[in-house]
Order: sequence, then structure tokens, then C-alpha cells
Amino acid sequence: MVREVLVFKDNEAMAEFAIEKWEEISQGAIDERGYFTVALSGGRSPVLLYEKLSAAKELKWDQTHIFMVDERFVPYESDWNNYRMITETLLRRVNIPEVNLHPILTEEVSMQASAEKYEEDLISFFTTLPRFDLIVLGIGMDGHTASLFQGTSAVSEKKRLVVPVPLTGAAMRYERVTMTFPLLNNAENVMFFVNGADKAEFVREVIKDENSSLPAAMVKPKSGKLIFVLDKGVASLLTREQN
Ligand code: 6PG
Repeated sequence: MVREVLVFKDNEAMAEFAIEKWEEISQGAIDERGYFTVALSGGRSPVLLYEKLSAAKELKWDQTHIFMVDERFVPYESDWNNYRMITETLLRRVNIPEVNLHPILTEEVSMQASAEKYEEDLISFFTTLPRFDLIVLGIGMDGHTASLFQGTSAVSEKKRLVVPVPLTGAAMRYERVTMTFPLLNNAENVMFFVNGADKAEFVREVIKDENSSLPAAMVKPKSGKLIFVLDKGVASLLTREQN
């Protein structure tokens, strides 16, 4: 695993870098096999990134496939639905074919059935263990990533690619469906996109303590690249040698 820690002055600068990286990775994938696969996280951190991505003219949306890292198990209309946020900030602003969009079902199915269906969709699309060209992750205020929360069985899942996450503890607010570490850690590139000084302690532990049990610290793409895109606030507890 190759790891890079990059610190930017603000969210705007983070997003500009991330878009350049997206363009570089997507063009390489398209040149190699004709399409680019990316899995996106929800939450507040990536909103500006998604809005700015929608204005990036040079991206080839017709050759881009968008998947979801995780989903809160709430209807699309809910303000908490990740796919709705990504649709509003990005997908409805670009000319991307419907067949290239791969949301996680949260209506008319059980959480278990939704997770099973998403796993089937992934396996039929990739035909092997899915290796995403890029996965964009955040870090929560308890060190979670995706919907992999400490204390849930999802964190120790070794076989399934997608699992339901029943409600455990207030941090989750909603039941979830999430990609698991076997899937995340098979990616070519994983980008943590993290801003907000309130997470500085978690980011320091994830980057500094290789034995950390925080879920975000367990993202280690075995034959891929791990990139931390941080703002100065969230990187405030890092010192040079830890980068
Ligand atoms: C979700 C996300 C989750 C998110 C972190 C950070 O469904 O909540 O996928 O993993 O990335 O919770 O969220 P913020 O960016 O809102 O701090």
C-alpha cells in the first residue's frame, strides 16, 4: 500500500486537488478499459467537492460508473439519504446515463435484501472481486468510515462485500447498508476527503497509530493507493514526520 497525506488551506483547495486526481484516475481507467468506476460516500464533507465536480467540463460522464459506499436505510425523499444528496449536488447536474448510476435500494425491500441485491449487482458488473478505480471516503466523529461503526459486526466482516448495519448506538441515527473492508481494501485508489477541526484527534490516530482500532484506520488497500485529502484544521494535530 502506498500512502499519501496532503493538507490544504481550505475545502475549496481540497476539492480542486481531488478533482484533478479524479480526472487523472478516470482518464487512466478509460484509456485502459473504456470506463471508470467510483464509489462515493455521503455526509457533509464532500458536498462542495461534488458540486465542483459537476462543473468540471473535462470529465467523461458517459464512461463513468457511480456506486455508493453506503446508504442510510431511509427513503430517497429523506434529507438523510446519501444518494439524494449526491443526486442533488452532482448527478442531476451532469449528463450521465441512467445505466451508469448504481444506488443502494432503500424502499420496498428489507435492509438484508437490499445488501444482498447490491452485492449481486457489484459481482455481475465486475464479474470478479470488485476493484474500484476510486473510492471516496469520509471519517465520522467517532472514527467510523462508510457505515462501518465500532462495535458492529460489519467491521469484522471478512467475506461479504455489502452488509446491512442494524442500529447500534446513537452515532448511527439510522440503519445502514454498507460496503465492507474486503471490498474497500481491494480498491486501486482510496481517497479520504476530510475537513473540520473537530475530527483532528481521529485523523491523528488514523494516520499516526498503525494499531488503531478505529474503523477508518482499517482502510488499507492491499495493492492500492491511500490518499488523505485534509484541510489545515483537521490536520492540526499532525506533525511533519507523521505524514
Ligand atoms: C454516511 C457517510 C459516512 C460519512 C462520515 C463523515 O453515510 O454518513 O458515508 O461515512 O463519510 O460520517 O460524515 P461528514 O462528512 O458529514 O462529517
